[in-house]
This record gives sequence, C-alpha cells and structure tokens, in this order.
Amino acid sequence: MQSKQRERLHVAIIMDGNGRWALRRGLPRVAGHRAGVATVRRVVEGALDLGIVRLTLYAFSSDNWSRPGSEVQSIFWLLRAFLRLEAERLQRRGVRLNVIGRRDRLAKAVLREIDRAESMTAAGSCLHLCVAIDYSSRDAIARAAVGVNASLPNEISRSPDLFRPLLTQALGAEGGEVDLLIRTGGEKRLSDFLLWESAYAELLFTDRMWPEFDETDLAAALEEFNRRERRFGAVPTNTVESVTSTV
Ligand code: IPE
Ligand code: IPE
Ligand code: MG
Repeated sequence: MQSKQRERLHVAIIMDGNGRWALRRGLPRVAGHRAGVATVRRVVEGALDLGIVRLTLYAFSSDNWSRPGSEVQSIFWLLRAFLRLEAERLQRRGVRLNVIGRRDRLAKAVLREIDRAESMTAAGSCLHLCVAIDYSSRDAIARAAVGVNASLPNEISRSPDLFRPLLTQALGAEGGEVDLLIRTGGEKRLSDFLLWESAYAELLFTDRMWPEFDETDLAAALEEFNRRERRFGAVPTNTVESVTSTV
C-alpha cells in the first residue's frame, strides 16, 4: 500500500463546508473561512508526508463572485494573507505554488502576492500546490476551444491530448490529470471544478466540513483510493475469459 501511495499522485480537493461549520457554532461565515486556512496548512503538510506530488485546491470559484461583497472581501483578504505569510514556509518545504484560473478580475494587491509566492517557490520540487482562484472549468475549456480554431482542429478531434496545451494556457498553469478528487462538506457535485482533468479521477465525498478535515482524513482518503480499481475503460487485468464467444 505504501508503495502505491508513493506513485505520482495528483489529489484535488473541493474545500467545502466552511460557512456551515461556522454557522453551526454560532459564528459568522468568515470564521469558517479563517479556520479553513488552518486546514490548508495541515493538508499541505499531510500531502508532503504522504508523498503526493500534486495537490490542487479549489479556493474560489468564478460563481463565488455572486456571494455578498463582504464575504468575498474577507475571502480575498485571507487568500492574500495566506500567500504573504506562507510563501516562505512553502519555499523551505520544497513546495512549488501556482495559481490557476482567471487573473483579469483579481485586485492588484492579490496579483502582487500571487506573483511573489509563485516566483519565491518556483524551484520547489517536492510538491506542486495549485490553488484555483476565480476558477471555472467550463470557462477554461471554452477559452481553450477558441485556440482550436487557429490550430489543428482535425488533429485535436483525433487526439484530444493535443487540447491540453491550450487548456494550460487558458488556466495560466498546467491543470494535470487528477487521480483522486475529494469534496468535503457533504455535497456530491463538482461545482465546475477540473471537469476535463477529472475524466478518470476517483471521486470521494466526505461529510466532514473543511475546517475539521485533517492529515488523518487525507491519509484515509488515500487508503480508500488504493482500494479502488482503476480500469480506464479496459477490463480488469486479472480477468480470465471463461466463455468463448462465437459472435
Ligand atoms: C467553501 O466553503 C469555501 C468557498 C466556497 C470559498 P463554503 O463557504 O461554500 O461553505 P458552505 O458550503 O456554505 O458551508
Ligand atoms: C465550490 O463550493 C467552490 C469552492 C469550494 C471554492 P461552493 O460552495 O461554491 O459550491 P456549490 O454552490 O455548493 O455548488
Ligand atoms: Mg459551499
């Protein structure tokens, strides 16, 4: 099991449940987002210990702009603080940080922290941490599709992998094929996250709210992943054909 965990796994997480976690404790929703940042720290450490090579975290969706202005402001304040305060520790721990998503609607102060954190951590080789901000998978796919008009439409229809560089360009960084997609908070949906990249991802939904998720839950998720059989459309490797078809 340990050796399987050492494979080059890409784990993606929809960090959901901050608001409900706070409201259940009689706290404002922003307290849930603040507690959620502490979970991010724990989970990054857990990912390093478990040998995960890529971790993509859904921090703010393009649809989250429709939340009350004060909540959006608080989330971006926390994101900026996270980037400013964590960049050095991430650098020390060998973590390379990239932000995926649209950048044209982000405030200059947020862009500055993103640029700083990305360049400070550029040499990290233990874990690639991707944070999705103003992210919409449909938007990224739609923008990548615009590029198809200019290049290789026939080749891409024969080999969809040729679409990947266009998608990478639209995301601002490589999205990467997802192995395990976890959603906390009890909902069983993808909410426009990594739709292309999760084509063969194993999906794991947990009722744990994001602020209460920890390294142990991440390790348990990997164990569950290791119990799954991924077939990618083929038949199981141990299948023995017992009936000879005469069709
Ligand atoms: C996820 O938690 C964080 C963001 C979407 C930014 P929510 O804020 O969606 O928490 P719930 O789902 O309302 O509990
Ligand atoms: C998805 O959570 C986005 C993030 C976790 C950043 P939402 O709470 O926005 O998703 P819905 O609205 O429940 O689908
Ligand atoms: Mg939610």
